[in-house]
Amino acid sequence: MLSTQEVSSLNEELKDSEPKDIIAHMQSLLPKLAVAFSGAEDVVLVHFAAKLDPRPAFLSLDTGRLHPQTLRYIEQIRKHYELDLDVLHPDPAELDQLIKNKGLYSFYEDGHEECCGIRKVAPLGRKLLHFDAWVTGQRRDQSPTRQEVPVVEIDSSFSTAEHQVLKINPLANWSSAQVWDLIRMLEIPYNPLHDEGFVSIGCEPCTKAIGPNQHEREGRWWWEEATIKECGLHRGNLDRMSD
Ligand code: ADX
Ligand code: SF4
Repeated sequence: MLSTQEVSSLNEELKDSEPKDIIAHMQSLLPKLAVAFSGAEDVVLVHFAAKLDPRPAFLSLDTGRLHPQTLRYIEQIRKHYELDLDVLHPDPAELDQLIKNKGLYSFYEDGHEECCGIRKVAPLGRKLLHFDAWVTGQRRDQSPTRQEVPVVEIDSSFSTAEHQVLKINPLANWSSAQVWDLIRMLEIPYNPLHDEGFVSIGCEPCTKAIGPNQHEREGRWWWEEATIKECGLHRGNLDRMSD
């Protein structure tokens, strides 16, 4: 278990490093590392991590509500990089309970937290019991809630007293333009929804295409307030804002 001080030194050391070097360094420190791929432009993480030997683990959360295009794209990437991809699912009993009580679209009425909790946070939490760190595609330019995302942090949502989980955000300092330049330069396959005006991509009922000059986050949970728009996967961002 690393102390808060050790984690902030690590963050200091890596904060200006290239994403591929950050992943490689963290993998050498913490071999039980998992890269979380959402089926969007975070594919660049997969691209970098797939070059490592040994490779880290790769996981995707199939919430049951992803666009068909995203599911097909995840499969395309699985094959393209010959990934040993762990596709995680929500607990059927928890899902039954939610749907029986509140139906299939409860998030439009009482917010996305409960549904995201069952479909994303709980499955990831169960998986992270077996890992020391996970790697995400969070960037500071993605959302007002992400402006202070560090490269390395203690994941307050998934750590327990007995088991610490670090969250690594190798793209924290990258802009959307840098990510897309790389995707185009290296001809990395990308989710076809991006050609239909989707910028930030999550579940189908909670994601929409955006118009000119809209912030990418306006296409996510658009019925909710921008400053609190964060699913439980990255709840720590909200805590950091209130500090
Ligand atoms: S979200 O929390 O608001 O949904 P966002 O879509 O911006 O997150 O994605 C940020 C990062 O969280 C992704 O790059 C990925 O690492 C992780 N993530 C989000 N959704 C998923 C998913 N369905 N499967 C795996 N990882 C995910
Ligand atoms: Fe549920 Fe929407 Fe969250 Fe997906 S993004 S888990 S559908 S609330």
